[in-house]
Amino acid sequence: MENKGENKLPEKIIIRGGKKLSGTINVQGAKNAALPVMAAAILLKNASLTLSNVPDLYDIRTMCDLLRNLGASVEFEGHSMRISVPEKLNTETPTDLVRKMRASSLVLGPLVARWGHALLPLPGGCVLGSRPLDFHLKGLSKMGADIELKNGAVSASSGRLNGASVTLDYPSVGATENIMMAATLAAGTTCIENAAKEPEIVNLADVLRLMGADIKGDGTERIVIIGREELSSASGYIIPDRIEAATYMMAGVITGGDVTLKGIEEKCMEAILNKMRDAGAEFAVTGDSVSVRVSSNGLKGISVKTLPFPGFPTDTQPQIMALLSVADGTSIVNESVFDSRLLHINEFKKFGARIEMQDNVAIITGVKKLNGTVVHSSNLRAGAALIIMGLAAEGETTVCDLQHVWRGYESLGEKLRTLGADIEFED
Ligand code: EPZ
Repeated sequence: MENKGENKLPEKIIIRGGKKLSGTINVQGAKNAALPVMAAAILLKNASLTLSNVPDLYDIRTMCDLLRNLGASVEFEGHSMRISVPEKLNTETPTDLVRKMRASSLVLGPLVARWGHALLPLPGGCVLGSRPLDFHLKGLSKMGADIELKNGAVSASSGRLNGASVTLDYPSVGATENIMMAATLAAGTTCIENAAKEPEIVNLADVLRLMGADIKGDGTERIVIIGREELSSASGYIIPDRIEAATYMMAGVITGGDVTLKGIEEKCMEAILNKMRDAGAEFAVTGDSVSVRVSSNGLKGISVKTLPFPGFPTDTQPQIMALLSVADGTSIVNESVFDSRLLHINEFKKFGARIEMQDNVAIITGVKKLNGTVVHSSNLRAGAALIIMGLAAEGETTVCDLQHVWRGYESLGEKLRTLGADIEFED
């Protein structure tokens, strides 16, 4: 497959647009559930965590390498993974790997909780504005960790952490995950107020409970964890990727096709489906399959504001902006989660889209058609949105810098070809 982590990944995709996408594809395991669940294995000692439905993505393979660098052994074949943690781990994370992916910060809580120390270079990853770790560090220090920032790295050390009451200034997904994982081994009870409620948090809590953790309230704004002396080997499952599913739904709608996604839980996509319905999409749900097509009245402009779950997810903001660029009328897209996640607008304009920006709000005037062009992806979801634009545009589009897209979309070429897209890849 073109996006196996260990092989050279194509840099460009060439799309001959204007074809209706129709057919059925399976949804991958959720990248943003698998990454924290993999980090949770570090809470074990002389034990192992077995996982199923793990997506084969570049970021997953980066996390495998990170865990191996710490001393764990990781077997990853197909979509099954086994992470075995020995008696001793080293606790200094390698800079090159951490700089590649912000989710590397998810090893911080488990390393401090289990091993008493962590040295983490400040992470890299998508450029979505400033993405500090202050909520993570404030929570861990409330639990008794000594935190030091020096030479561009975070050093955190502690004896056994103590349970604490932590109120997050913002329902940060990563901070909720780091503090929840650390709390599973702390002495006493930890309460996280204003916690993130994403489905990926619940998946992580489910796996931690299988490992013996005592967690209640995940999926609500108040999570209570009673610390244990140790956790034990377990087998867990990764939930479907709602963001991947939404991406292909929008590709189907913008091309006037009829796309079915298999293996997705509709309840975790409510805000996405509601907004797409408002814009003119029609859905049919049968069991764990969701089919979508555009209604006979076509697409019309709407207002969207990105919010923490259960609101409209920021990870589908570029994709719905692509859809709205050809809707009838004006749309407003307000990005409230990240302070600069609208950089893709300049690339969208190369297709002929009409978009103006005021602070973190995009005002889109729908156009009748988009014209193929050459564009560059700046991050994972912006890259996916450019591909959606190319699929709808007349003529040929080349999307460059695909390395961003390979971080989150498994078997992208196969899935697009299954739906009838006319594409090829170039190095
Ligand atoms: C997770 O990132 C996801 N990544 C992101 O998906 C997603 O966009 C984001 O949650 C929001 O849903 C993974 O799960 C691996 P946050 P995370 O902490 O945890 C600010 C994708 O495309 N903040 O909820 O980093 C932060 O700057 C990726 O798959 C602080 O100020 O997001 C942002 O403005 C992109 N201080 C806001 O909070 C902190 O200590 C939300 O960030 C932490 C966050």
